[in-house]
Amino acid sequence: MSILVTGGAGFIGSHTCVELLNAGYDPIILDNLCNSKSESVKRIKEITGKDVKFYECDIRDRAGLDKIFAENKIDAVIHFAGLKAVGESCAKPLEYYDNNIGGSVILCEAMAAAGCKKIVFSSSATVYGSENISPLKEDMPEGKTTNPYGTTKLYIERILKDVCASDSEWSVCLLRYFNPIGAHKSGRIGEDPNGIPNNLVPYITQVAIGKLSHLNVNGNDYPTPDGTGVRDYIHVVDLALGHLKAVEKVLGENGCFTYNLGTGNGYSVLEVVKAFEKACDKPIKYVIAPRRPGDIATCYSDPSKAKAELGWEAVRGIDEMCEDSWRWQSQNPNGYGD
Ligand code: NAD
Ligand code: UFG
Repeated sequence: MSILVTGGAGFIGSHTCVELLNAGYDPIILDNLCNSKSESVKRIKEITGKDVKFYECDIRDRAGLDKIFAENKIDAVIHFAGLKAVGESCAKPLEYYDNNIGGSVILCEAMAAAGCKKIVFSSSATVYGSENISPLKEDMPEGKTTNPYGTTKLYIERILKDVCASDSEWSVCLLRYFNPIGAHKSGRIGEDPNGIPNNLVPYITQVAIGKLSHLNVNGNDYPTPDGTGVRDYIHVVDLALGHLKAVEKVLGENGCFTYNLGTGNGYSVLEVVKAFEKACDKPIKYVIAPRRPGDIATCYSDPSKAKAELGWEAVRGIDEMCEDSWRWQSQNPNGYGD
């Protein structure tokens, strides 16, 4: 089975390609490398010992997409490609709407033209907004998004639902990720953010390696056990394995399906710091800083629907997530390099 993986050179995409190859699928990577490097594709081949086709292409390039569909018999698409920085999306909303929403529309048009109507989409817990109370369940109403990035996820979900409603040949799986961290056990692929990381664990790893002096803990006066924000961190390999189950779902059944991919456990910022200190065997310096605008106190999933319907559940715990993040960072201090 050939699976087109848009954004396959990125953090979650590269881990998913490894698991697809290990399971006997034939992933075809499409990426414009705007937030990744082709080195990750080389390492996917190195880890699995298998070859993988790579097209440097933009999802907004309809002619490029048509060529890929003409050259390959693609059974389904896993659609990771998108811009994902919350702060940048506030500064450059049109870029986010064009890339994420415009790109997804063009991708679906090319898919329909090629007769490939099966797609797994990378959505986010951000679509629940701040009104819903954790544990978050798929049947809760969508929340109000607080930034253009989140709005793109909400709109793409709606677009894909409408596409599905219009044509019974489509099969769509919307995967709402919680907070992916960790890296492949080999230490050869992982998250390689540009510049100063925005997210907690990439920031901590750079403090641990000495690139950043200390972590700013964004608020310790939230209504949580220790006052710091609580999130549902999920190992990226568990997340990748969830995509294999989602691909099976869309290949086997038409319709529109929505699943949380999380562990169901919430950890506070300070608990993550403690787990990371254990993993890297050194103290992580931190200072308490003001709250980050737009943050919520607590966000974690109810992952029971994915378990019941996909037969998937996350099995890797917070210690393993931190150990694997640290192995990747310490063995690749400059990520994939220049
Ligand atoms: P990433 O930036 O590492 O991967 C995204 C990939 O898409 C990159 O390789 C980038 O070069 C590529 N890309 C972007 N725009 C493109 C375009 N127009 N055409 C072709 N390629 C393009 O990010 P990631 O963490 O692997 O996230 C993958 C997906 O999961 C994204 O859609 C993201 O919004 C979503 N998601 C991520 C998180 C998270 O915390 N990492 C949480 C929820 C949802
Ligand atoms: N945090 C810090 N210091 C930092 C970075 C983060 O204290 O330097 C805290 C945050 O305040 C939050 C927690 O660590 O309490 C996690 O923050 P992240 O930025 O790692 O993750 P978020 O939950 O804020 O964001 C993630 C994704 C977004 C997505 C959002 C909602 O990165 O793309 O979940 O689903 F929109």
